[in-house]
Amino acid sequence: MIHIAVIGCGYWGPNLIRNFSALPDCTVTHVCDLDAARLARAKALYPHLRTTSRASEILDNPRIDAVAIATPVATHFELGARSLTAGKHTLIEKPLATSVEHCQQLIRLAEQQQRVLMVGHTFLYSTAVEKIKQLVDAGDLGEILYISSQRLNLGLFQTDINVTWDLAPHDLSILLHLLGCKPVSVNCQGKAHVHPQIEDVTNMSLSFPRGTFAMIQSSWLDPSKVRRMTVVGSRKMVLYDDTEPLEKVKIYDKRVEVPPHYDSYAEFHYSYHYGDMYVPHLKQVEPLKAECQDFLKAIRTGEPPRVTGQQGLAVVAILQAADHSLRHGGIPVELTDPLVVNSYGGACLAAATGSTGQSVTSAPPLSPTA
Ligand SMILES: NC(=O)c1ccc[n+]([C@@H]2O[C@H](COP(=O)([O-])OP(=O)(O)OC[C@H]3O[C@@H](n4cnc5c(N)ncnc54)[C@H](O)[C@@H]3O)[C@@H](O)[C@H]2O)c1
Repeated sequence: MIHIAVIGCGYWGPNLIRNFSALPDCTVTHVCDLDAARLARAKALYPHLRTTSRASEILDNPRIDAVAIATPVATHFELGARSLTAGKHTLIEKPLATSVEHCQQLIRLAEQQQRVLMVGHTFLYSTAVEKIKQLVDAGDLGEILYISSQRLNLGLFQTDINVTWDLAPHDLSILLHLLGCKPVSVNCQGKAHVHPQIEDVTNMSLSFPRGTFAMIQSSWLDPSKVRRMTVVGSRKMVLYDDTEPLEKVKIYDKRVEVPPHYDSYAEFHYSYHYGDMYVPHLKQVEPLKAECQDFLKAIRTGEPPRVTGQQGLAVVAILQAADHSLRHGGIPVELTDPLVVNSYGGACLAAATGSTGQSVTSAPPLSPTA
């Protein structure tokens, strides 16, 4: 039996408690939050839970094997480092930390302590994303030309991070998974309308090797909830709408055909191909349940989970570069440093150089108010 504690019981923490509580061979014994009202709510739902406002009560308890951390991003590093140092297997919500350096330290700690470090990139456990990955890997879509992603709604406004750090980790984790490689550069622009200097609307663009392009639009200031990703391949296109209850993925047999060779503009003729649209059957599994199962499996078997600390680092590296671009008028920031090798087989950002030649190594880890 694996004994689990959850730290942070605001919006997301209760979902972790619910999912772990429903799984066999594990039991949620403790929950920690600084807010007494949140603890009272958890206790009302799960009367057997022990509640505390002091994380040390959990970390010093030798009967607790694993800790899931769902607190605000700025606390992830400190709580995660304390949890790993105390010898607990640790699941940290996205994004892993506020800087590449802190991610690296967490990864090193997990290795030293021989404990699982997993990151809550929940969408990598979605059957919709799994389906699209199969299509991409099988070559069904042809060459991936571009991917466009929109994650918009009204709120929930955060006060410590901007909308990119809040919402884009989902899109970035999906993009890296689908393309299997890191971007070479990132640009980001945005605007703060509500809280001064905390952007509530941002646009990020990413250039990947072999010319694939991606755009991520994030907003807390939109009238409708949008969770939409379009994957445009040279042969087929996919629309992924996560707000759809059943038909989340639609595969369109559509493309533009251009002649392989032409000498003059007069010879250039393209044609539109309109084929069928197909909706694949997807198994109805709550992604968070699959994520919790994977964490438990990694603890039991010693095999790495699907989302490791390295993948958390890869996402944070892009967020850090995007932050730098945002603070410098949207300049392209290259992700070039070979020292930080991520699990996608490429180098990630540690020291990046913008197109202006400006070094960004000294950029503050996370400075939404800078
Ligand atoms: N994987 C997903 O799909 C998903 C979805 C939503 C949120 N999240 C992530 O979950 C985390 C929490 O987000 P949220 O929306 O639940 O935030 P929230 O503000 O609703 O809840 C955070 C809770 O942590 C508590 N807290 C803060 N500092 C603490 C500390 N030092 N010790 C103990 N408790 C502390 C707060 O009192 C609060 O109740 C974030 O990292 C967020 O990105 C992930």
